[in-house]
Amino acid sequence: MSKITMKFINIVLFSFFIHLTNGDTKKTSMNEDLNRACIIRFLQIRGKLDEQIQVSPAPADMCRILLPLVYANHSERLCLRLWETKSIKAECVFETLKKFEFVDLELKQEIITKLKSIPKGDKRKILHEVTVAQREALTRTAKMCKSDFTYGGLFDEILGINSSLIALQREYCLLKYALENKFLDLRYININPRNIDVRNIECTSIIVQSQDESEEKLLEAFKSRKYSSDAINCLIEKYKDERIFGWNLAKDFLYKIKISENEKRAEDWRISKKLSDFNKISSNCLYSFNWSLFQFK
Ligand SMILES: *[C@@H]1O[C@H](CO)[C@@H](O)[C@H](O)[C@H]1NC(C)=O
Ligand SMILES: *[C@@H]1O[C@H](CO)[C@@H](O)[C@H](O)[C@H]1NC(C)=O
Ligand SMILES: *[C@@H]1O[C@H](CO)[C@@H](O)[C@H](O)[C@H]1NC(C)=O
Repeated sequence: MSKITMKFINIVLFSFFIHLTNGDTKKTSMNEDLNRACIIRFLQIRGKLDEQIQVSPAPADMCRILLPLVYANHSERLCLRLWETKSIKAECVFETLKKFEFVDLELKQEIITKLKSIPKGDKRKILHEVTVAQREALTRTAKMCKSDFTYGGLFDEILGINSSLIALQREYCLLKYALENKFLDLRYININPRNIDVRNIECTSIIVQSQDESEEKLLEAFKSRKYSSDAINCLIEKYKDERIFGWNLAKDFLYKIKISENEKRAEDWRISKKLSDFNKISSNCLYSFNWSLFQFK
């Protein structure tokens, strides 16, 4: 059978199942049972699920058609969620999660949650194992892709974190740093407007991590412009010498914090001057390395 015919049959069957789903509830549950049986069989074949678990027979022909649909549906939703979250490096994260078979874990979680035939204690144990595996996959993926490890809040439950609290802690530390180092020369600023508990925050490591991230981004931007390594080293060195991380931070915060228009204008002038001076200084890196500014290969 040709590929196109197969595709057409898939579409017809797909519509048939959707029709069933929209039809009466008895048929819907039949359809769901079949879906579930297929997923269980699939996970068992991949060694992801105990062979003991079985609800109803999974007819191979039906499953061959159903599974790709279910799978595509899950992948697609995962993909969309990742792409809709700004802080995530979606492309790398999606590909890496695929390698860790993250969708399998999601399917398993869904199946186990719904199955009534498993004793409560066992269920809890299996679900815990799934969560641990998911957490491991997410953590390793964020590291490999150098992507936001909080996933912008998408997987808080799995990761066991409160991403909005982490974001507030980060804001608190960065603003405190900008003020203490006079990147922002302001007094009487409330650095904890949301009144979070700040007793146990490790600001130093948050600042260092934030600095590393911004240097990483800069490095990537320079590399994508194919600057030579001499030019890049020079630029990064100047960036550190002139403490541009702090000045950029100040510029960002200037429009977030509540201060008078006069203060804002004065600070903006001071900060913008620093940044434009840096632009001049850093352009020397490019001119003085005129032979090596771009790599020829
Ligand atoms: C895809 O997933 C959504 C959300 O769980 C579900 O409502 C929908 O029925 C699924 N579609 C198919 C074809 O399985
Ligand atoms: C997360 O932290 C925020 C800020 O402290 C808080 O308002 C929110 O209730 C927390 N969410 C959970 C689920 O704990
Ligand atoms: C820059 O280019 C000029 C002439 O093209 C050359 O004389 C000079 O040595 C170069 N400077 C560096 C640092 O390579």
